[in-house]
Amino acid sequence: MHRTLSDLRSRRWFADAGMRGFAHRQRIQQMGLRREDVLDRPIVAIINTWSDLSPCHAHLRERAESVKRGVLLAGGMPFELPAMSLGEVMVKPTTMLYRNFLAMEVEELLRSLPIDGAVLLAGCDKTTPGTLMGAISTDLPTLFFAAGPMLSDRLQRRGEPARAIGAGTHTRMFWDEYQAGRIAPDEWVGLEAKMTRAPGTCNVMGTASTLTSMVEALGLALPGSTSVPAMDAGHTRIAADAGERIVQMIWEDLKPSRLLTAGSFRNAAAVQMALGGSTNAAVHLIALARRAGVTLTLDDLDRAGRDVPVLANLFPSGDRLMEDFHYAGGMPALLNRIRPHLCLGELTVTGRTLGENIAGRESLDDEVIRPVDRPVSASGALAVLKGNLAPDGAVIKASAASPKYFRHRGRALVFDSPAEMNARCADPELDVDEDTVLVLRNAGPVGAPGMPEWGGLPIPKKLLQRGVRDMVRISDARMSGTHYGSCILHVSPEAAIGGPLALVESGDEISLDVEARTLTLHVDEAQLAARRAAWKAPQRQAPRGYTRLYQDHVTQAHEGCDFDFLQGPPTTTEPVIF
Ligand code: FES
Repeated sequence: MHRTLSDLRSRRWFADAGMRGFAHRQRIQQMGLRREDVLDRPIVAIINTWSDLSPCHAHLRERAESVKRGVLLAGGMPFELPAMSLGEVMVKPTTMLYRNFLAMEVEELLRSLPIDGAVLLAGCDKTTPGTLMGAISTDLPTLFFAAGPMLSDRLQRRGEPARAIGAGTHTRMFWDEYQAGRIAPDEWVGLEAKMTRAPGTCNVMGTASTLTSMVEALGLALPGSTSVPAMDAGHTRIAADAGERIVQMIWEDLKPSRLLTAGSFRNAAAVQMALGGSTNAAVHLIALARRAGVTLTLDDLDRAGRDVPVLANLFPSGDRLMEDFHYAGGMPALLNRIRPHLCLGELTVTGRTLGENIAGRESLDDEVIRPVDRPVSASGALAVLKGNLAPDGAVIKASAASPKYFRHRGRALVFDSPAEMNARCADPELDVDEDTVLVLRNAGPVGAPGMPEWGGLPIPKKLLQRGVRDMVRISDARMSGTHYGSCILHVSPEAAIGGPLALVESGDEISLDVEARTLTLHVDEAQLAARRAAWKAPQRQAPRGYTRLYQDHVTQAHEGCDFDFLQGPPTTTEPVIF
């Protein structure tokens, strides 16, 4: 399929012979550009999620210049368009609240402007699904360029061997040690300057790296591009490659609807498992699939979790960092290692199939990308639990949980808010032991709102001091992909809309069985019915604005948390030009 100049969407704006076309060309010349710069070339949008308060994207302004270079060299015309930045750690109450906002922004930017194709500059957690969801709905040729992981860091403590430390994962570990009194206050302050050594996304297999890797598996990023460290010169070169390639993709009309299939989503699910990836991917992948008109459910992800072992030895499931993964061959090598689980005939942004892209790409370090017969975890990255406590499902990252809790029964200790949880967990008199099941509710998409990463509930301080580092924890929240522990997340439906989690009382018995995929509240149905009749929905926080829109329209975790009015395959509505 080869398109010609007259097929370009931007011609509607610039080639028009009437007064509107005159005005569009006039305004281009107002910026010092020439009329032929936009008349004779495809127009490429560079959607940039850079901002001064997005540390993981601090370098994306410079990278946008490299993308522009590639676009110009290939005969296109680039325009950089800023979009909501969503730096994961800074944005409150949670970036998840704004993922759909970013998706809407990207969709409307691309639709309302004279754009023929787009390069998406993103990577910090929600920016990846947010930009892609919008681009999928617009269905213009799109190429994803990952911000790239930050550089590795190392920690040297007196009398101990130096060890690799990574963003997020070690913050939680060190916090627990600090709470337990095993790290002194001055060392704690010193640790602030560690782990985050340079611009770029978290350098563990957290949500950012999981999602950018899955995008590569979906066929929407250049092969091998997503693991290149943000501060590597190769990252700048690949930015130019991305600019060059998007121009070719426009001529080839290679748009998301030609790349995203049931097979490509199966590939992404397999990759999530082989990476030991973040549980957050379950929500985002389902949202992306629904935008593409592909049916994907939690059961599909559970099947992938049973089939595909964890091969990437990366924090928090393993003990290496993204830089090591890149040196070991990155995604092409990992994909090659799980070939039997992949649909190799799916088309990608290169214009070739996934199988062609990864042919001959072997792992260069079997400690980082393990062979199938020596996995990091054979039990799989993700398991979906169901039962009377989670009729529509809940997830657990089995590879980052303690196997001793895979079959467990304990009494619940329930918290209704993070403030209550934090206060009570600090109480030395709290009635809790390591068999207790901690429960946090009202932390889901509607309840929090925005389903924040509150699901790694803190271990009560008195247990930390006794050396306890893991417990069973259950919530309708999400958990940072950089964190670890026996945390059951995304309980659906959530408590705030009357899901069974709302009916649990402290002292109730709860059991889980990861192998059997069950999560059970041991309270008889008559008692639950009485509690249900007495239950009152918590008051919704937002009387107006975007948060009100969010609470009124967000779907549940097992449905991807997209807005109900944005799901479904692209139905491009071109703006009227008058
Ligand atoms: Fe940006 Fe982790 S905080 S990727």
